[in-house]
Amino acid sequence: MRAVVFSRYGLAGEVLQLGEIDKPRVGADELLIRVRAGAVNLYDWHTMRADPRSVRLVRGLLKPRADGLGADLAGQIEAVGDDVTRFQTGDEVFGQVDGEVPGKPFLELGSFAEYVCVSQDSVALKPANLTFEEAAAVPMAGLAALQGLRDVGRTEAGQSVLINGASGGVGTFAVQIAKSFGAEVTGVGSTKSLDLIRSIGADHTVDDTVDDFASGRHRYDLILDTNGNRSISACRRALVSDGTYVAIGCDVVGGRWLGALPHLLRPVVLSPFVSQKMASLFAKRNHEDLRVLKELVEDGHVVPVIDRTYPLSKVAEAMQYLETGQAQGKIVIIV
Ligand SMILES: NC(=O)c1ccc[n+]([C@@H]2O[C@H](COP(=O)([O-])OP(=O)(O)OC[C@H]3O[C@@H](n4cnc5c(N)ncnc54)[C@H](OP(=O)(O)O)[C@@H]3O)[C@@H](O)[C@H]2O)c1
Repeated sequence: MRAVVFSRYGLAGEVLQLGEIDKPRVGADELLIRVRAGAVNLYDWHTMRADPRSVRLVRGLLKPRADGLGADLAGQIEAVGDDVTRFQTGDEVFGQVDGEVPGKPFLELGSFAEYVCVSQDSVALKPANLTFEEAAAVPMAGLAALQGLRDVGRTEAGQSVLINGASGGVGTFAVQIAKSFGAEVTGVGSTKSLDLIRSIGADHTVDDTVDDFASGRHRYDLILDTNGNRSISACRRALVSDGTYVAIGCDVVGGRWLGALPHLLRPVVLSPFVSQKMASLFAKRNHEDLRVLKELVEDGHVVPVIDRTYPLSKVAEAMQYLETGQAQGKIVIIV
């Protein structure tokens, strides 16, 4: 089968190759999926570049232990293992490749491949009203937005919610999910992104290039921060006294060794000493939450925003486009 492989860390144009490898064999608790589409995430970029360097501790010190790249996927089940109860051959699913499974290589194969084996907990039935390409855009960014708003941010109807990075992969889901929870939503992005942010339902927008949402002129019940381009003390000024700040990521690559980790830990360390709840999100793969996203999509509350699609042979170009930070919504790979 065809799969994108990389045997050393580095630049997309230099290390990613379209290879011919063996089709994986389905384990007892696994599904063999004919992948129809995948989506590119910054997670894949960090893995490919071993940036931050701590990636090497997990993925291989000198070279990647696993060849494959890509986490998000949508496709059709071609075979199920003997212990699988939830799905059957022919089901159309969306989700993510497995993370660390005891006794198995980390991410043995990525989703930028014609076939992949995943556990039944990592996928859910595809939203009926989405194509494979649209469905592949949902998992990682949608789970982060959902879990950030619902589990960490505890968003309630009537609350004032600000999404920093509202035009991005996570942000476009966050704006729509926050609206579905009944919040009044402000989306922050650059000038070119404001029409998109409005079009997906934001009540207000802030142009990041001319205005500072953290000036303290407006105060919010919740800030969901996918960008990390304002200091935490500035973000606190933009929160009501019992408001919540949720750090999800940084716009910059972050430190050489730990990347965004210090940025994500800082609010947690600060939280006991201030009146506001300061928190971080580390999104989890979760079958139940994929089902929640499927319902949000099928009920019309959430529509994936896709910036560009690339064929499997052009994953390197897709990664290079991701690197520019110009994408609005998701970049999708058609397999
Ligand atoms: N904690 C978790 O579990 C989790 C899960 C998923 C993702 N993440 C992280 O969340 C963050 C956002 O992910 P994403 O997929 O939404 O990212 P994205 O789609 O690449 O970008 C988010 C938005 O930020 C702005 N932006 C991008 N690059 C920029 C740059 N260099 N300088 C200034 N602004 C820039 C862009 O908006 P404008 O052009 O409108 O400014 C872009 O639309 C990343 O750090 C990612 O690693 C974390």
